[in-house]
Amino acid sequence: LGKPDMSKFPYHAHVDHGKSTLADRLLELTGTIDKTKNNKQVLDKLQVERERGITVKAQTASLFYNFEGKQYLLNLIDTPGHVDFSYEVSRSLSACQGVLLVIDANEGIQAQTVANFFLAFEAQLSVIPVINKIDLKNADPEMVEKQIEKVFDIPRNECIKISAKLGTNVESVLQAVIERIPPPKVHRKNPLRALVFDSIFDQYRGVIANVALFDGMVSKGDKIVSAHTQKTYEVNEVGVLNPNEQPTLKLYAGQVGYLIAGMKDVTEAQIGDTLYLHNHPVEPLPGFKSAKPMVFAGMYPTDQSEYNNLKSAIEKLTLNDSSVTVHRDSSLALGAGWRLGFLGLLHMEVFNQRLEQEYNTSVILTTPTVPYKAILSSAKLIKARRAVQKHLMFIDQNRVMLKYLFPLNEIVVDFYDSLKSLSSGYASFDYEDAGYQTAELVKMDILLNGNIVEELVTVVHKEKAYSVGKTICERLKDSLPRQLFEIAIQAAIGSKIIARETVKAYKKNVLAKCYGGDITRKMKLLKRQAEGKKKLRKIGNIEVPKDAFIKVLKTQ
Ligand code: GTP
Repeated sequence: LGKPDMSKFPYHAHVDHGKSTLADRLLELTGTIDKTKNNKQVLDKLQVERERGITVKAQTASLFYNFEGKQYLLNLIDTPGHVDFSYEVSRSLSACQGVLLVIDANEGIQAQTVANFFLAFEAQLSVIPVINKIDLKNADPEMVEKQIEKVFDIPRNECIKISAKLGTNVESVLQAVIERIPPPKVHRKNPLRALVFDSIFDQYRGVIANVALFDGMVSKGDKIVSAHTQKTYEVNEVGVLNPNEQPTLKLYAGQVGYLIAGMKDVTEAQIGDTLYLHNHPVEPLPGFKSAKPMVFAGMYPTDQSEYNNLKSAIEKLTLNDSSVTVHRDSSLALGAGWRLGFLGLLHMEVFNQRLEQEYNTSVILTTPTVPYKAILSSAKLIKARRAVQKHLMFIDQNRVMLKYLFPLNEIVVDFYDSLKSLSSGYASFDYEDAGYQTAELVKMDILLNGNIVEELVTVVHKEKAYSVGKTICERLKDSLPRQLFEIAIQAAIGSKIIARETVKAYKKNVLAKCYGGDITRKMKLLKRQAEGKKKLRKIGNIEVPKDAFIKVLKTQ
């Protein structure tokens, strides 16, 4: 190797702009993977990524590249483009010196491109704009160059125009990385200082930590300490990601790789932790800001006997996706479970799907809500704030960037879809938390013959209360079996009833089928009815089967 210069770079843009396809070409060009027709987003390794065609997890690969007689080691992190996975992007930046900002030549700058540019800019990383898909008929790379100059103040001659799909001009991207991204400032002679920037739990090998070495080196057999837990471990294996794990004798400062050290518990090797050599303590690296969940939903095992399995699955998956927050919760209807916080609805769906696919679990996910702070006084009377325009900027003749202040619950459910359909797919959207605002929120009760159903109490905006109340009453009507008396299902705000449905009475006699005097048959039927009743929850004198709540609370 001689003395390799080393750089690391993640690259990102908006969904589908071609980051993972560019990664395929970079892996091929550097001989990291064989060039075949089948290389399609090879770094999207998860089943959920392949099924949905999007990246949800940042993936690392080490590449060797020969340029002007020198061999370079480059570490690449392919990051997701969707706003719900931006935590993967922000974390990856702390292991990098520069970024490739990939922008579709047809679509131009998107909201997420702007958000990601500023993340990289604030972290003082070199930014290389890469305009992709120049092979498309309607591609307009010159238009995108102008946008880049105007919005990011990057001279247009710094943009690299490529087709990741066809491989056109991709070599220039590697050369620009060598020329424009500085090698990391590291010290091999200092004692080991390694940042854990990602972790995965392997059933057989325990925690596999992805590490970026800022100082020193680490080899198999070394004794290391976690700055977070102060526990000491012996290193069993170190290696590089090529992009699959490939064991090596050592990892040196400037390299990105993986490390296995007999950590069997998911609380060990947390993301953001610093690892150092036993008896050589170092100042821990800054770590990461914790993610701020935006959408909260209840998660319960479909069957309570699966509680412990689900608990362990959630712990393992949150090690790999540390942007999810977990708090224990319980519901009269659904039993013991958790309240999970996600960065958005897509994130919630993907987490659920990963639990099912990678951990073989079956869960009930309740309708998502956003957090509120309630002050129980007349302050609720304060007028609700509507969306307020904060900023307007013309990116070019056809594109405008608008900033609004919105109540979060107005955007988490279907805002993005509505925006896309209203603008025929042209508008894009990104958001950040602007803190709590006072709003006209009401607590809505659901009543069965006058008795409050605690499981269904919700907080809604006053203006939405009627439609939400009506939907819940209708869903409950469809899922409640008829009983011997009429049931009034009502949605109420305080003492005011805002929606009502009625379930008509039904006379059910389980013994009616038993003509004749077969007493054993009668007993069997009565026993079965009694067992069925155990699965019921009594509200007043109304028996509500548990799955009625599930039907009302479930997202779909
Ligand atoms: P996310 O990680 O989910 O944000 O997506 P991405 O930016 O990694 O995009 P990806 O590489 O998955 O590509 C999205 C789609 O664009 C795929 O169908 C690719 O085949 C296509 N694509 C990527 N690069 C090019 C290109 O240069 N030309 C054309 N025509 N299509 C491309």
